[in-house]
Amino acid sequence: MRATIETEGEPVTASGAAQPRIRISRAGMRYDAIEVFRDVDLEVGDREVVAIIGPSGCGKTTLLRCIDGLLPLTAGELRVEGEPVRGPREGVAMVFQHFGLFPWKTVAQNVAYGLKMAGQRPDAIAAKVAQCIKLVGLAGFEHYYPHQVSGGMQQRCGLARALAVEPRVLLMDEPFGAVDAQTREILQFELLKIWEMRPTTMVFVTHSIDEAVLMGDRIVVLKGRPSGVHEMVEVDLPRPRSRATLTLPRFAQLREHVWSTLMADAIAAEHEVRQ
Ligand SMILES: Nc1ncnc2c1ncn2[C@@H]1O[C@H](COP(=O)(O)OP(=O)(O)O)[C@@H](O)[C@H]1O
Ligand SMILES: [Mg+2]
Repeated sequence: MRATIETEGEPVTASGAAQPRIRISRAGMRYDAIEVFRDVDLEVGDREVVAIIGPSGCGKTTLLRCIDGLLPLTAGELRVEGEPVRGPREGVAMVFQHFGLFPWKTVAQNVAYGLKMAGQRPDAIAAKVAQCIKLVGLAGFEHYYPHQVSGGMQQRCGLARALAVEPRVLLMDEPFGAVDAQTREILQFELLKIWEMRPTTMVFVTHSIDEAVLMGDRIVVLKGRPSGVHEMVEVDLPRPRSRATLTLPRFAQLREHVWSTLMADAIAAEHEVRQ
């Protein structure tokens, strides 16, 4: 095993080369009879955003849960900051598709949850909760319960809860999949702004090709049964990204490329059903 030295919070190896935040090697996962993915190799660097896209059921959520330490791989190896993942760990936070909020807790109590679990002092928790609620635009809604606010606001709350623990790795499972199209756009651009203020390593699962191109530094296309990394697309669009990014010719090219990669299979699958 290589020695690691902490320099200003960045893990570096003894040779001085930066170590990836996440290293997934020959990863495989099965649920009894179902083999979900096989031989997945992926490295995610410090402050890098990797978007994962692939058809429904290809194992995106499963892979994210493995990175979060909620599920063990059945083959291969997964390391976060150089250490094998054996369970949920400090520094890694997840935002769930269906918000994952406690319905009996208020917005502020939900945001405070991870900080309480980490045993932080009440005054430190109060300060961080207030800061994160403001950051995601929820000021004034601290004492509301999740059912009293819109889906978009519930997801802002889920994001604030994840950001409150100051994660070095942020995992997002189709975070805007359950909100309407306009809210989704608003939240995408707000997330980009928040990321610019606090760049973290992010693994972002999405169904949306536009969202993958807008968010990612790279896009992993998962395909097949069991699935594997079919293609890795470098997204060479400048940051900071904003609404203007959507109008760049390069955005359209990348979008088209990912679209054709995914659609070839979707069309073949449809023909299979019709025969
Ligand atoms: N807890 C589970 N037990 C058994 N099979 C599961 C479980 N969770 C997911 N699966 C199966 O694993 C496959 C991948 O699921 P999932 O990771 O949710 O895919 P995605 O997020 O890409 O839609 C699907 O076939 C799904 O039915
Ligand atoms: Mg999923």
